Amino acid sequence: MKIAITGIAGFIGTNLARTLLEADMEVLGIDNLSYGLKENIPAGVEFHNRDIRGSGLEELFSGADVVFHLAAKNCISDCQNDPVETASINVAGTVNVFEATRQARVRKVIYAESSALYEGSSQFPTPESDVHPKSFYAVSKLAGMHFAEAFKRYYGMTFTALRYFCVYGPIQDYRRTIPPVMSAFIIKLLKGEQPVIYGTGKKRRDFIYVDDINEFHMKCLTDSRTDNRTFNLGSGRNYSVLEIYDTISRLLGTHIEPIFEPDLPGEAQQTLADISEAKSVGWEPRTDLPTGMRNAISYIKGEMEKGRI
Ligand SMILES: NC(=O)c1ccc[n+]([C@@H]2O[C@H](COP(=O)([O-])OP(=O)(O)OC[C@H]3O[C@@H](n4cnc5c(N)ncnc54)[C@H](O)[C@@H]3O)[C@@H](O)[C@H]2O)c1
Repeated sequence: MKIAITGIAGFIGTNLARTLLEADMEVLGIDNLSYGLKENIPAGVEFHNRDIRGSGLEELFSGADVVFHLAAKNCISDCQNDPVETASINVAGTVNVFEATRQARVRKVIYAESSALYEGSSQFPTPESDVHPKSFYAVSKLAGMHFAEAFKRYYGMTFTALRYFCVYGPIQDYRRTIPPVMSAFIIKLLKGEQPVIYGTGKKRRDFIYVDDINEFHMKCLTDSRTDNRTFNLGSGRNYSVLEIYDTISRLLGTHIEPIFEPDLPGEAQQTLADISEAKSVGWEPRTDLPTGMRNAISYIKGEMEKGRI
């Protein structure tokens, strides 16, 4: 199979590319390197430095069996600060990718939505039906969902929508304005510095290890039960930020007090995935939190030794 990935230089894109190459698939990727790093793209990928809003994507996608659309502006606080660019990348860019896949007659599009669609939900665990977006980021993902529905309706295209919860693991991006909580804690604690907790630390998050979502990605390529459906990809368990902090501190053997700062705008107090839909097609998360965290820690230690952090 030939697979194309948008956002290939990002966290999920690079991990996905490696998994596909290991399965002997041909991988083409595009990224404008606004967040992702070229050196993280595995050898063997045909890489094109392109913006998803640009013209001519259909030529690149031509011959691909499946396109994974992962490129996005996806740091919630960055999106809150720039709704115009958020819409430009996540809405116009997404429509441009979908239209290019249509023109290129790609068999299936698998694209990233987000657990942010449940920001206003009060149902936990949250099923796929309980959509209540609030932030600019979440609203932009909702627009993508409606466009996918319209492409299905008018052009008979096949989509799978993936609502990732907090994905973690090696190659997670730690350079953004507010890094993902786990990476942020690990980096600061390894440096002997005080990490920042935004809010009280009682916010709860459902974390899912990147290898587990890659298993679902692989299933989407071959299992027609995933066609034209939406899946929550979480672990079905959640942990408070303080619990995450304590577990990382224990794994690292550190005793450093965090600094508490005011909560960030646009963030849900709790996420918890109802994963029965994904389980119904034979998927189950397999990596427990301490195991996944140990892998994330050893990746970050390796980056520090290389002087990249
Ligand atoms: N990581 C998570 O926990 C998580 C959770 C929910 C949803 N998602 C979604 O999954 C997808 C992948 O997330 P990720 O964690 O790998 O993010 P990431 O930021 O690491 O990767 C996104 C990539 O898209 C690229 N990109 C951004 N704008 C672009 C543009 N205009 N043209 C071309 N490339 C562009 C960036 O350079 C980056 O390499 C995103 O759509 C994100 O919204 C991720």
